[in-house]
Amino acid sequence: MKIKFCVASQTGDELRYISKAIESGQLAGDGFFTKSCTKWFENFLGAPKCLLTPSCTHALEMTAILLDIQPGDEIIMPSYTFVSTANAFVLRGAKIVFVDIRPDNMNIDETKIEAAVTHKTKAIVPVHYAGVACDMDAIMDIAKRNNLFVVEDAAQGLMSYYKGKPLGTIGHFGTISFHTTKNFTSGGEGGLLIVNDDNYSHRAEIFREKGTDRAAFFRGDVDKYTWRDIGSSMLPSEVQAAYLWAQLCNIDKLHNARMNIWNEYKSAFSHTNIQHSGGLSKIEGSHNGHIFYLIGEKNNRTYLPKFRELGIQATSHYEPLHSSQMGYKHGQTSANMTNTDYLSSHLIRLPIFASMTSQQAQYVISAAKDILT
Ligand SMILES: Cc1ncc(COP(=O)(O)O)c(C=O)c1O
Repeated sequence: MKIKFCVASQTGDELRYISKAIESGQLAGDGFFTKSCTKWFENFLGAPKCLLTPSCTHALEMTAILLDIQPGDEIIMPSYTFVSTANAFVLRGAKIVFVDIRPDNMNIDETKIEAAVTHKTKAIVPVHYAGVACDMDAIMDIAKRNNLFVVEDAAQGLMSYYKGKPLGTIGHFGTISFHTTKNFTSGGEGGLLIVNDDNYSHRAEIFREKGTDRAAFFRGDVDKYTWRDIGSSMLPSEVQAAYLWAQLCNIDKLHNARMNIWNEYKSAFSHTNIQHSGGLSKIEGSHNGHIFYLIGEKNNRTYLPKFRELGIQATSHYEPLHSSQMGYKHGQTSANMTNTDYLSSHLIRLPIFASMTSQQAQYVISAAKDILT
């Protein structure tokens, strides 16, 4: 049996909606499908402003610009994350201050954040790894007391909650990814900027439309549009939005199918001594089954080739940013990074996708038990 790590989510409606977008003759951004997705997100997330972007990377870059991050500003984040979390701020000249992660959920250790705060700190960027919530009460409290902004990198977090609140809706901004590897995709690439602090909504809309008030013009709020501010082109095309709309219309079906596989893994590994992600997190919330991981006793390089020999595309995940070439140049660690170093080199992600069958999951489970015990 050959089992890929990930297969892009499909509902069967994608081509029909993409054809509709083409037939409409309005393929540029902010047409019918972008509007439909945006409205859906604003209702579902209860956020004052949601803006589709070409990727989560773009959404993160927008937050750094909207927060007016300047050279020398310090941004606190975990080292165990994707490069875009850091790059968005390094692009503005900021220094990244890396904080270690918690062993129960691979998320930033909120108890170590305050020691990393200096008079140069501007923002905290918690990453909800695997769609599992960070301790947002503690993080928001630190931010409030130190007058800092919070940008939630919820790239993996759609359909996950912290104490009943959707991930990405608690900080000043949240960002979500619709990359092909995520639970819900806009056809390969795509993202969402969630603006929770309405003071930034107007400027976000203008920046995304090349620095113009074209969005207001299309709404009929102004009779002509012009250059208002700095800006860039941060709109996905209608083809991407049409793909995403097909996924949003069937979101529960996709979510439940993925959760069934995640729960199948969880019940299988709960009866073993293998450390795994099922039920580990001590934070109150519910997750979206984005990743199921195992923590091996040896370095993951020992195990991964054995999965490959059996046709299973199990993978490791992020290489810590603090010990990368760019991390040395643009970052610093606030204290030791023991959990980050150990867990990143021992973590193994098992294949998971909505169209995965129980038979495939059982094959992976039995292989993993043989390999890791
Ligand atoms: C934590 C995190 N942030 C940001 C991104 C970037 O997302 P995108 O590929 O949509 O730019 C990713 C992508 O995997 C991610 O895992």
